[in-house]
Amino acid sequence: MEQYTASPTRYEQSATLYQRCGRSGVLLPKISLGLWHNFGGIDDYQRSREILRYAFDHGITHLDLANNYGPPYGSAEQTLGRVMDEDFRPYRDELFISTKAGYDMWDGPYGNWGSRKYLMASLDQSLRRMRLDYVDLFYSHRYDPDTPLEETLQALVDIVRAGKALYVGISRWPLDATRFAIQYLKERDVPLLIYQGRLNMLDRAPMDEGILQLCHESGVGFISFSPLAQGLLTDRYLNGIPEGSRMTREHFLKHEMLTPQLLQQLQAWNAEALAEGRTLAERALRWILQQQGVTSVLVGASSTAQLARNMRAVG
Ligand SMILES: NC(=O)c1ccc[n+]([C@@H]2O[C@H](COP(=O)([O-])OP(=O)(O)OC[C@H]3O[C@@H](n4cnc5c(N)ncnc54)[C@H](OP(=O)(O)O)[C@@H]3O)[C@@H](O)[C@H]2O)c1
Repeated sequence: MEQYTASPTRYEQSATLYQRCGRSGVLLPKISLGLWHNFGGIDDYQRSREILRYAFDHGITHLDLANNYGPPYGSAEQTLGRVMDEDFRPYRDELFISTKAGYDMWDGPYGNWGSRKYLMASLDQSLRRMRLDYVDLFYSHRYDPDTPLEETLQALVDIVRAGKALYVGISRWPLDATRFAIQYLKERDVPLLIYQGRLNMLDRAPMDEGILQLCHESGVGFISFSPLAQGLLTDRYLNGIPEGSRMTREHFLKHEMLTPQLLQQLQAWNAEALAEGRTLAERALRWILQQQGVTSVLVGASSTAQLARNMRAVG
């Protein structure tokens, strides 16, 4: 691929694209890019690189990773590390990069969940894979019922104090634990920047459970993962299951999920969207961004064309 120079028009949409993350100094793009799928060692590196370039060239400054994204585990971070060296190094200060630890990553008792031992070691590994000195945001990827919350949260505080992350976040924590985390971190002057949860037109749990409201009232940002329900909330599956789609490739999106009732609902939403002159994906993303307290939607993409289409949601 030719030498990379970022597009001079990448901040053209600034006025509508960026939004403050809770009560913090950080602005995040309303559309952020996640590297869970399509950036692993099994994927075509040049295509992954092209999607990352496209994202940055269009103002998507926030990239979201986790230690175990791939497959294999760790390889999405390696892909980003390579792109950092090949393309993005001059733009490091224009990027807001997050990673996480919380799910199984390596063998033995210290490669999973929420211990200080795991979080500290995992972030050091992530930094090496991504070829970074620090991440902008480090998350506890999930709530650990067996580790004292104080231990997990103090590890996050100490990671910031050590300069390895600028901000901290939590993902998939239940309401009471989230309330505790907000207070604990506030008292240590490392306020919780953001909560990452699944919120989309098919899964409204963070609203129903009060997480979104708590975040909003507490000045904590909220970023929605799988905002398109892994592709269900697009036109991808309206006329069958296309070869190469996530449903044919991954066990995370199972055929059984696409019930006749769901298909009927998606078709109705699609018709409503088309009547408004939008695609179903645009409508689904706009619906999330309209909810009070939502900072950003964290989309996935297997092509630049998908990302281009999804960006129209904020146009
Ligand atoms: N915190 C957590 O526990 C957690 C969990 C899950 C995800 N996440 C984060 O959220 C990010 C996004 O998750 P996700 O990939 O599930 O998000 P998503 O945006 O709901 O789904 C993305 C997939 O939908 C399809 N798609 C996207 N735009 C499309 C369009 N315009 N038309 C047709 N199909 C389209 C593509 O699948 P095809 O392959 O079929 O093209 C794409 O890979 C992840 O990368 C990760 O950073 C976090």
